[in-house]
Amino acid sequence: MLIDIIAGARPNFMKIAPIIRALKARQSSGSALRYRLVHTGQHYDPKLSDSFFEQLEIPQPDMNLEVGSGTHAEQTAAIMTRYERLLLHAPSALCLVVGDVTSTMACAIAAQKLRIPVAHVEGGIRSGDWTMPEEINRMVTDAITNWFFTTSEVANENLRRSGVSEDRIFFVGNTMIDTLLANLDRLQPPEFWDDLELTAQAYFVLTLHRPANVDAVGPFSNMLKAIGEGTRGAPVIFPVHPRAEKMLSELPEVPANIRLVEPQGYLQFNYLVRNAKAVITDSGGITEETTVMGVPCLTLRDNTERPETIDIGTNELIGTNPAALGPALQRLFDGQWKRGSIPDKWDGAAGERIVEDLERLLGGNSNRDSGAA
Ligand code: UD1
Repeated sequence: MLIDIIAGARPNFMKIAPIIRALKARQSSGSALRYRLVHTGQHYDPKLSDSFFEQLEIPQPDMNLEVGSGTHAEQTAAIMTRYERLLLHAPSALCLVVGDVTSTMACAIAAQKLRIPVAHVEGGIRSGDWTMPEEINRMVTDAITNWFFTTSEVANENLRRSGVSEDRIFFVGNTMIDTLLANLDRLQPPEFWDDLELTAQAYFVLTLHRPANVDAVGPFSNMLKAIGEGTRGAPVIFPVHPRAEKMLSELPEVPANIRLVEPQGYLQFNYLVRNAKAVITDSGGITEETTVMGVPCLTLRDNTERPETIDIGTNELIGTNPAALGPALQRLFDGQWKRGSIPDKWDGAAGERIVEDLERLLGGNSNRDSGAA
């Protein structure tokens, strides 16, 4: 019972770690489930990939497809071609994909065309925004997924509305939160903590990488200016994603309180988030982590596929108009930000629930199998 676990880009790595941990635990108590970890190579920088494997103690990939950079079509084609070759040579019983990156969609297509069933962890979420490549990836992946492991009741409802039958939906919780809860005690300050004289609650964390925010000089520059002003001189720690870095050198100026740093390791980044006054971001996954850590989060997007981070958590959609940032930060400084609570089943046990379901679905319990024989 070989399960391919697919990971390609940074936000995938924290989602696969607890699934692998739970699979290993099951194996040592007699389960016949086996896994093969396939890294597509979509993210190849050590800071976006290797450091996560080390810090989260993820085993080395069994296979690296080494696709590297390219346009969306180029990456999709390269991943499909190379993963198909692997499957033809050594098929698996299931292709398990996580999240919404290009690797997720590409591997799901390659597997399903070879009649290998697909399981999608974090299936069913939707922003409704077709300008986001991730939304296309989610829709395509879910259209050809057999089993959905979901993070929220909203995701379940989206799937039901699109005609997915109840027996294919497994509401298991959030594997990204499994990883966060498992590592809360291990978080560590980044090297620059003392040099930048950071103190808890007295700085902000900023992440920006979406094409709409960082691919053109004007919007990127105007947003940084609004962030610099709205944060009233407090340090704003900005770990720069390679995509944003390409454009940064072309900006006329970056406000002095915005401190550019390299992409951070998992333990350092979440240490920064946990102790921040607030996080300003255009990421989706980070809004889940801030919700669980109770840190105010201002999202620079017009929509979200994770509405529970707003309805239940600490997140608020500010939009992409820099003028909206000032009033929101004013409310934060006035102590008016909502406190939020934690969504159902974001409790650290999603990985175990997934493996339990997989065992039932694939018949991977060797004791039961031998009994039946
Ligand atoms: C990808 C995901 C996005 C995720 C983000 C997190 C898709 C469609 N997008 O976006 O959902 O939130 O990762 O990081 O899958 N690059 C490097 N080094 C690397 C990887 C990329 O320099 O290791 C460069 C690429 O050459 C490219 C740019 O960074 O120019 C963007 O990388 P890409 O993988 O295309 O998408 P992301 O913007 O990182």
